[in-house]
Amino acid sequence: MKIAVIGTGNMGGALVKGWCKSGIAPDLTITAHTQKTLDSITNQYPKVSATLDNVRAVQAADTIILAVKPWMIQQVIEEITPALQGKTLISVAAGARHPRIDIYAMPNIAAEYNQSMTFIEMPANEQAPLQDIEQLFRKVGQVKIVAQQQMTTGMLLSGCGIAFVMRYIRALMESGVEMGFYPKDAQQIVEQTMLGAVTCLQQSGLHPEAAIDKVTTPGGFTIKGLNAMERASFTRAAQAPFANNK
Ligand SMILES: NC(=O)c1ccc[n+]([C@@H]2O[C@H](COP(=O)([O-])OP(=O)(O)OC[C@H]3O[C@@H](n4cnc5c(N)ncnc54)[C@H](OP(=O)(O)O)[C@@H]3O)[C@@H](O)[C@H]2O)c1
Repeated sequence: MKIAVIGTGNMGGALVKGWCKSGIAPDLTITAHTQKTLDSITNQYPKVSATLDNVRAVQAADTIILAVKPWMIQQVIEEITPALQGKTLISVAAGARHPRIDIYAMPNIAAEYNQSMTFIEMPANEQAPLQDIEQLFRKVGQVKIVAQQQMTTGMLLSGCGIAFVMRYIRALMESGVEMGFYPKDAQQIVEQTMLGAVTCLQQSGLHPEAAIDKVTTPGGFTIKGLNAMERASFTRAAQAPFANNK
């Protein structure tokens, strides 16, 4: 598969770096608005081809990933249409729809470290190469194939959710600093604790509440802390970003 990534900013760049780590750099051609963005990737991954010419990039590929801002999708598709025939067009732009797009995907920026949670919308066209595209995104993390109406939910839980989780990490860090750790140490402690929590749940298959029970001694610090979190409306605050989308 020869891949062109149109737009290599935060999201496109993360995908490209994740794919390079999985060993497919020679199959990638990237574009951007400025040479500076292209250089920032090719300096790190010299086997990637780079051009400021979107049409040239499309000509060199069979699979095109659109990773420009949603309001640029229409304009870029018009620009590359003469070179698009017979090629698969994938968009990762949030909420932008266009009849020429074959497959909609919603990764998150952890793709750079091959830990994306990517949603792929079940394509309306049965001829679209869904399995190949699923394999491509599996190189940068986990993939779920969902119906169109679940794409927004997926984007909120994972595309935006990664920022909500980072905000939680920051909140815990600040308490760590208040209690006497340097910020760097507090960050390391909280990140490792978060990684430990995720690993426990993934490896045990336990529901979070069942795993919490294992940490909670009657009358101990954990239950007091958990109850204090709920008295401060923790669950409500954590669910607030999704309140308008239920
Ligand atoms: N950021 C996320 O976490 C995330 C998650 C999921 C989906 N998305 C989607 O990904 C898309 C990009 O978002 P982003 O956050 O990565 O934005 P971004 O950082 O601003 O990246 C946009 C990229 O598009 C390039 N560009 C601008 N005009 C172009 C043109 N005419 N031809 C080719 N490339 C052009 C820019 O080049 P320069 O760098 O040279 O200016 C930049 O590299 C959006 O549609 C967004 O909905 C983002």
